[in-house]
Amino acid sequence: MDCLIRKWRLEDKDALAENLNNLKVLNNLRDGLPYPYTPADAEDYILSILSADPENTFAFAITAEERVIGSIGVFRCNNIHFRTAELGYYIGEPYWGKGYMTSAVKQICRHVFETTNIVRIFAEPFAQNTASCRVLEKAGFQLEGTLRSNAVKNGTMLDMKLYALVKD
Ligand SMILES: CC(C)(COP(=O)(O)OP(=O)(O)OC[C@H]1O[C@@H](n2cnc3c(N)ncnc32)[C@H](O)[C@@H]1OP(=O)(O)O)[C@@H](O)C(=O)NCCC(=O)NCCS
Repeated sequence: MDCLIRKWRLEDKDALAENLNNLKVLNNLRDGLPYPYTPADAEDYILSILSADPENTFAFAITAEERVIGSIGVFRCNNIHFRTAELGYYIGEPYWGKGYMTSAVKQICRHVFETTNIVRIFAEPFAQNTASCRVLEKAGFQLEGTLRSNAVKNGTMLDMKLYALVKD
């Protein structure tokens, strides 16, 4: 069973909140998201995505069997990095380990490389996030290095891994 990526809809807010209102998900993301994460927070996010610049923001719901199971986005960098973009994603805990995120990462990278002038997509998971590193490797990303002591999350200093996929 594969997943699909599609544009966000306002009616996705409850499913989005259900997936994200989980510390096992939030603890692997950057700070700035509220906890508890409510449907109102989800609605704000969806509205911000729907009004974002379509040249710079490529953000999608991930669905499986018509249900929204996660979120994925590629965000263009600026200045001299304007042909580079950062990838971020998460999937609701009940759907982990089924290959969905590997498929979603492949789909969004194909879409961005085919429809924009972006030539490099990178991701920076926490080094301890083995599942995310594995997803990137399965999707063809190359490990470019370890960013040592690169973040403080929940009071702990963490290394991060730098992965990138470059357009052929
Ligand atoms: C990381 C995450 C996106 C993975 O999504 P997913 O749909 O479960 O990923 P997939 O099923 O495509 O692949 C996961 C791979 O990691 C492996 N894996 C999972 N947990 C693991 C662990 N603790 N140690 C080693 N490998 C692990 C799986 O076995 C699988 O690899 P395999 O196909 O070789 O067996 C999901 O767990 C998640 O959303 N986590 C919370 C948020 C997050 O970490 N976002 C990424 C921030 S950079």
